[in-house]
Amino acid sequence: MKKLTALPAWRALEQHCQTIADSSMQEWFAKDPERFARFSLTFDEILFDFSKNRINQETISLFVKLAEEANLSEAIEKLFSGFPINYTENRPALHTALRDRRSTSLLVNGHNVMADIHATLQKMQVFTDEVRNETWRGATGKPIRDIVNIGMGGSHLGPLMVTHALMHYADPKLRCYFISNIDGSQINEILQKIDPEQTLFIISSKTFTTTETLSNAALVREWLQDKLGSPDISSHFVAVTAAKEKAIKWGIPGSHIFSFWDWVGGRYSVWSAIGLPIALMVGMENFYAFLDGAHEMDLHFKQTEFSKNIPFLSGLLGIWNINFFGCRQQAVIPYAYELNYFQDYIQQLDMESNGKFVTQSNHFVEYATGPVIFGQQGCDGQHSFFQHLHQSPNFTPVDFILAARGEYFEQQQNALIASALSQAQALMSGRSYIDALTELKQAGYSEEEAATLAKNKIIPGNRPSHVFFLKKITPQTLGQLIALYEHKIFVQGIIWNINSFDQWGVELGKKLLPAILVDLENTHSSHAQDSSTIGLINYYRNQT
Ligand code: F6P
Repeated sequence: MKKLTALPAWRALEQHCQTIADSSMQEWFAKDPERFARFSLTFDEILFDFSKNRINQETISLFVKLAEEANLSEAIEKLFSGFPINYTENRPALHTALRDRRSTSLLVNGHNVMADIHATLQKMQVFTDEVRNETWRGATGKPIRDIVNIGMGGSHLGPLMVTHALMHYADPKLRCYFISNIDGSQINEILQKIDPEQTLFIISSKTFTTTETLSNAALVREWLQDKLGSPDISSHFVAVTAAKEKAIKWGIPGSHIFSFWDWVGGRYSVWSAIGLPIALMVGMENFYAFLDGAHEMDLHFKQTEFSKNIPFLSGLLGIWNINFFGCRQQAVIPYAYELNYFQDYIQQLDMESNGKFVTQSNHFVEYATGPVIFGQQGCDGQHSFFQHLHQSPNFTPVDFILAARGEYFEQQQNALIASALSQAQALMSGRSYIDALTELKQAGYSEEEAATLAKNKIIPGNRPSHVFFLKKITPQTLGQLIALYEHKIFVQGIIWNINSFDQWGVELGKKLLPAILVDLENTHSSHAQDSSTIGLINYYRNQT
């Protein structure tokens, strides 16, 4: 691909940005009663409102031109067909195949991966049924009640986020816990809550080499052996991995291993057997609905023209705000308790995918790529970092994620939704100096006092936000929403010409850890460390 910033559509967007950057969204809405309808789309039970952006129809046309010049359609075709789109690791990224339940054939290096996918789903079905109908028993003959997932990153966040989001679909007899960090306090808290006789540990690791996961797995195995005193505790352990031999060597029986494959990226693996905790909690039928929802979004993404394509527009609006308006961060704010971990999940998905600086043509990028993603549940966030969103000199686009229908105490729902909508409104409309002054005077301040305070009360406004309005959080709509974000991130990666499917940046820290660990355990450092690290190692040694 020609250098991104030299593409005619990119240049045209730069020009276009200059002409509309100072336009007022509020005035656009006042002049055009159709603006909301023009710049919002519905897909099944999700409304995507992107009308509160500094865009007009020409912006969308230029987005589409940019996609054409960046060969996005070709890239989408490659993604779905199993082309090694993860070019630095020479493999495909086939999370879309995992949810294409009706497909029977997709060849990767001459091998039909659909057969493997169906076999694993079948194995998950049998196992989840056995656990849920209590035929699967622990070493002392009792049924499973506590499920503990031990994993990291993509082998942790997906199951955590989705089991929480689908809490109303869960079997009330079962409880699910998550151990990720190598942190004694976290592990202790969970071990205090579970019944060793009725616990199933799921060791989830694509590579089965992740330090945190293996260290935690060894610890809980020792703990369980100690608690049960039984020679055979194998029915308390299953593994989900792409490295079956390693799991067997660790001590998991082959029949207790659920496979996935190197062509499933860690942060895209919730659709694979990594979703086992989800299937156990909500049952396989609901897990299938989750996969089907994602597949429906895949079809929308693949088949819909770009000007009406939700993941495409969402991706390009991100690029518009990042590269043309200089935003370096993106807030993701769910107004639904069920989505409590959604922003954490999207944080890994986006930042591990697009926090990159080398292009496919092997050049360093000369433009910003993936933003910093942060967020929190809506009302909590309002009383913490929303001040920054409203009055910081830099602006941050906000994704508001709403569910129209809640599950309990419906009388709270109007206020919850009003909270989100009022924040989106305030980000757009702001408050002028004159309005602030008038308000202060009406509140009884003197002319002088009001003039002093008014500047502090200015809210600049004209700040973009998007609303993803779900009718309700169901397995299906959740699947759709996650797939939407996956494809948004993919679109951005293609436009930025980076590889969204590797994560070389996290390797260095992993490589440095063992030597530091040895030095912490010895009385003096045997490795050549920098003096800052030596200072910290010495401080730690003196405290223990
Ligand atoms: O943080 C890097 C990473 O490789 C993630 O991409 C991955 O999800 C996580 O570590 C866990 O890896 P694994 O599943 O191999 O234990």
